[in-house]
Amino acid sequence: MFREIELPTSGARESIPTQYEAVFDWEYKFRREELVRLYEKGKRLQWNASTDIDWSIDVDPERVRQENIDAFDSVLQPPEKLDVATRRKLKHHMDAWMLSQFMHGEQGALLATAQLVCAVPFTEAKFYAANQVADEARHVEVYRRYLTEKLGLSYPVNPHLHTLLDQIIRESRWDMVYLGMQIMVEGLALAAFGLMRFIQPDEPLIQQITNYVMRDEARHVAFGVLSLEDLYTKEMSATELKEREEFVIEATVLMRDRLLMGEVWERVGLDPKVWLPWSLRTPFMVGFRQILFSKIVPNLRRLGLLTPRVREKFQELGILGYESLPDSTQEEETAVPPALLQFFFQLQAAGANLTPPTPVPHQ
Ligand SMILES: [Fe+2]
Ligand SMILES: [Fe+2]
Repeated sequence: MFREIELPTSGARESIPTQYEAVFDWEYKFRREELVRLYEKGKRLQWNASTDIDWSIDVDPERVRQENIDAFDSVLQPPEKLDVATRRKLKHHMDAWMLSQFMHGEQGALLATAQLVCAVPFTEAKFYAANQVADEARHVEVYRRYLTEKLGLSYPVNPHLHTLLDQIIRESRWDMVYLGMQIMVEGLALAAFGLMRFIQPDEPLIQQITNYVMRDEARHVAFGVLSLEDLYTKEMSATELKEREEFVIEATVLMRDRLLMGEVWERVGLDPKVWLPWSLRTPFMVGFRQILFSKIVPNLRRLGLLTPRVREKFQELGILGYESLPDSTQEEETAVPPALLQFFFQLQAAGANLTPPTPVPHQ
């Protein structure tokens, strides 16, 4: 099976003007030992998407288990009962939507980190960013291959994800590229990959891919935290920090309330006017979206960005509770957020046959 990636209505290419300055560092001095160590680790943990992944594994994109359907139904209380054929189709489309957005996000990360190589003024950060460029190319590669060869179905970039990526790529200030990409988008992705492992227990190929990608992403998020820490906690003025605070709030609201698979319902023949409000309001789905912030919040705390204003907003969104979890520079493995374990037990109690979520070691 091979099916081309579906194009957005705007066409196959899009050019975005950039305005950052490319900076040489003639001193070549290592300023942060932790970043140098992370760079060494990054080199040591490179993998080859063509040979380290077992692409011979067959995928049934419409595979659903009856006991899981029943369990999810009793916990999720969907607005209408779906027949098995629609269920199977919905699963295929939801996976294709989510993995397509992962792929588009990965392309955003590829472009943004290439930009960081030029714009960041420190040698060891340039080295690490260069290492990450190779990682992101590999991530685009695995999702592209999975979508075209295994699922045979894909979705163009979601308009809200596109807005966020566009804003990051246009940004002239290197720290904002980091904050947008390494802390917000990659932090969200790290948690979303954890959810993907959880909801796809019967798909060994996606489990393999996700484990490799998560290991890389954990380093990327740590790279963002280590690069921004001193700047935000010691060097920046209150006015400058206020702009970062605004951006964090704006990006959080966008990622929490707009990345909702709106495109999927119609394609599967379901009424978006019924299903969208359900996905926005049902407690289980709200909880699922909150988990997406479990990796972002502790890192913002470490960067001094959990200011009173941000805290107030996060409290309102129900995500402030994650502030006490370890940040990405402290974690030896990507831990399973306690809220995800709770979901697991809830579904298990309703009769679901799922594998309990497990942490991903970073090496
Ligand atoms: Fe990535
Ligand atoms: Fe990344």
